[in-house]
Amino acid sequence: MNNELENGEMSGNSQMIMIDLDIQDIEGIGPTTAKKLKEAGILSVMDLAVASTDELSVDINSSKETAASYIIAAQRLLRESHLLDKEFITADAALQKRKAMLRCATGSTALDDLLLGGIETQAVTEFYGEFGSGKSQICHTLCAIARQPVENGGLNSGVIYIDTEGTFRPERVEQIARARELDPSEILKSVAVCKVYNSSHLELIVKDLGRYIDDFKAKIVIIDSIISLHRAEFAGRGTLADRQQRLNGMLHKLIRLAEIYNIAVIITNQVQSSPDTFFGDPTKAAGGNVIGHASTYRIYLRKSGENRIAKMMDSPYHPYSDTRFTITEKGTDDLEETGKKSTSKKSTSKKDKEIEEIEE
Ligand code: GTP
Ligand code: MG
Repeated sequence: MNNELENGEMSGNSQMIMIDLDIQDIEGIGPTTAKKLKEAGILSVMDLAVASTDELSVDINSSKETAASYIIAAQRLLRESHLLDKEFITADAALQKRKAMLRCATGSTALDDLLLGGIETQAVTEFYGEFGSGKSQICHTLCAIARQPVENGGLNSGVIYIDTEGTFRPERVEQIARARELDPSEILKSVAVCKVYNSSHLELIVKDLGRYIDDFKAKIVIIDSIISLHRAEFAGRGTLADRQQRLNGMLHKLIRLAEIYNIAVIITNQVQSSPDTFFGDPTKAAGGNVIGHASTYRIYLRKSGENRIAKMMDSPYHPYSDTRFTITEKGTDDLEETGKKSTSKKSTSKKDKEIEEIEE
């Protein structure tokens, strides 16, 4: 079956218009191969048509010739069924699709203002900053808010939380829910957590995310953090190109999922160096161009005493402004004295806006 958006029409978790085309409709693919493909995260004819021969042959344990023949057969089927025509949509249909975009409140109205109303679906939002800057706290707060009805700033949905650093704490989500006078048991049931141990494990989970998004009725996918495992495992310049290529593959899958399923993808990222070292700029995101280009919105977080400063660093349409928020028992929260709306509209320097080069 192929998953396509049509006229931006999405509702509940039946966001997708399922086109009546099964992977077994492809010439030469029977139930056994379909099962192998499914295990490799290839669920639709389109997934197969855009797969790479090298990767597919490894994933399904076949020769490169066999993998190539499947890909060519999938492309032929798409052409013959004129489904590729659906890859083009008119601008008014694109606008309709944008109108299906939803926003989730962050817990701080100041941060929501910076994001022009909250975290968007159909986009990848990246929070990066030094340790303790509040990245994981934002993620925990979103777990509590996402389950809330749309009129209360939520998405009435589940959350998929991919924890690469072992820092997810269900008791913190429970505390945030209680402090916000929300039902903790209902919220905890709506969060599906996956602790991943190495970069290959993370890539595998991302490959198969489409299925989990459906199963858990999720509108938010959180990856906290996107880079730590790849950064630790691919140390040294010799392996940098390989690391960037693998990160790139994963991020493109995330962008596609965000659009097809109308979900918000939140990734957290580290800064290039810790501020207690003399080398490197602690305001530069790790991961270089690959993450910079994949993120629709990039927000830099910084500690300022007890408070946090969030700065919009990259966005197709948000002003490059900054704002202050804090972290309390309610999770992400507004400063007491300002209450809300502390967003400053002054633009940041050109240097701040640059997407950083691949770290050394
Ligand atoms: P790394 O993952 O280490 O890179 O940092 P991070 O940006 O994810 O930091 P995180 O979001 O975990 O923020 C940690 C900070 O949040 C702590 O230093 C505290 O200031 C604050 N914090 C965490 N839990 C609580 C809590 O229960 N109550 C309050 N008031 N603050 C908390
Ligand atoms: Mg963290």
